[in-house]
Amino acid sequence: MVGGGSMFFYVLENIQDIQDYYISDRNPIPIKLLQNLKESPNTLSKIYTEFWNTINSLPDDEDKEGFYKRMKDEFNKTNDPDLFYCLNKVCYNGMIRYSKDGLFNTPFHKGRTGCLPKKVIQKNTQLHNLISTKNVIIQNSSYLDIDYKENSLVYLDPPYPSLIKEFYHWDFDFVLLNKFLKRTDIKIAISMGQNYDEKLLPQLNQFKKIILSGYNSSHRRLNNENKVVNELLFINY
Ligand SMILES: C[S@@+](CC[C@H](N)C(=O)[O-])C[C@H]1O[C@@H](n2cnc3c(N)ncnc32)[C@H](O)[C@@H]1O
Repeated sequence: MVGGGSMFFYVLENIQDIQDYYISDRNPIPIKLLQNLKESPNTLSKIYTEFWNTINSLPDDEDKEGFYKRMKDEFNKTNDPDLFYCLNKVCYNGMIRYSKDGLFNTPFHKGRTGCLPKKVIQKNTQLHNLISTKNVIIQNSSYLDIDYKENSLVYLDPPYPSLIKEFYHWDFDFVLLNKFLKRTDIKIAISMGQNYDEKLLPQLNQFKKIILSGYNSSHRRLNNENKVVNELLFINY
């Protein structure tokens, strides 16, 4: 469950005694982007620099928004991961949102230049070094289809139930997840938003609950409020 990849990169950078790192998502786009970061980070940085130069050479917000919309339409036809990456760096608050029809529909962030290419190049180089110096296996598959090894620690960060309609056009089956959580042969850690519906995942009553607080949440971004949001981490070990 790659999402924006922040958790994956945190683990890569900070937890050392891991032999193999498996990262998977059923959405091919973040997976392809991770593969591109691993194999050709300079190409991704170059594509973004050209995109950024083009959009920022336009005279005003209206023209920029027009260019953004044309690129967004192109992405919705092609599903090109590099184009998705570029759109995400200049879209509203870096938010990833889809319409009911499965089309990416986050608006352009007016009045901002988007992430500066210099910073993006630095970040991509740092992430590339992290991925390529460790044994990282990148897979486009559901968490349900993975052949977990003994002694695995599985971290799951499923879509927030309350945000599924707005952010994901795929369904997410919480009944299957609840069955998966009953597995006792692997260590499982799973994140949930503070207002998750307890009836969806009764198996979590068997887990230990850790409450984490932070500001950086899509709930805050959605409501444009700057309040502390609690995230829950459940573990079975
Ligand atoms: C909340 S995001 C994860 C955020 C991520 N932990 C981060 O640090 O940015 C949820 C992710 O779960 C993925 N997903 C949804 N259903 C899945 C499934 N059955 N198997 C694997 N990934 C799935 C979505 O594509 C999305 O990337």
